[in-house]
Amino acid sequence: MKNSTLIVVILLTGMTLINSCQQQAKEETIKTEWIGSEKQEIVNNIEFQFQGFSRTMVEVSHRYQELYWAGQDKNWGYAEYQREHIVEALEQGFMRRPEHEESAQSFVTVALPNIEKAIQTEDPQIFAEAFTNLTTTCYTCHQMEDVPFMTVTEPKIRHSIINY
Ligand code: HEC
Repeated sequence: MKNSTLIVVILLTGMTLINSCQQQAKEETIKTEWIGSEKQEIVNNIEFQFQGFSRTMVEVSHRYQELYWAGQDKNWGYAEYQREHIVEALEQGFMRRPEHEESAQSFVTVALPNIEKAIQTEDPQIFAEAFTNLTTTCYTCHQMEDVPFMTVTEPKIRHSIINY
């Protein structure tokens, strides 16, 4: 085979390969209702929908209030449920925004474990003390995270529909 013929054959094979790859890529287009059609676009949209740390805080704030009223009701099962879900919400939040984890050290390693112990005692007085400490630690983190205008005070009005 002449050199020029060989080059033509190589070029043709290359073009066929590229063409089939492009077709394969096209076939990977996914049909969805609204989240996108290309893989990368879908991943970007999922991340955007999960959002950052404020979503975590909206959830933590709700669970914090529920935890308070659970303690008032001496509904220890519900209190423990909320404590666990605060831990989980924070873990998910730190996965999305790892830069916030360090400021939450005392909240995660001291204040929340103290709440767990207080729940186990089923003593409203011990729980109240642990809860006051938890509230202070929420605000400590806000100060460290440059959101000192987000003060945290113990709930006064009950929104919870759960009752003992
Ligand atoms: C990492 C340390 C940290 C801890 C611990 C923490 N927060 Fe936050 N919180 C933040 C940051 C940072 C923001 C601002 C989020 C943003 O800008 O996306 C915030 C925002 C908030 C908001 C406003 C959310 C909104 O967008 O409407 C509330 C409410 C809140 N926190 C409540 C609490 C409560 C209650 C606790 C304790 C049970 C708590 N936070 C513990 C860091 C923390």
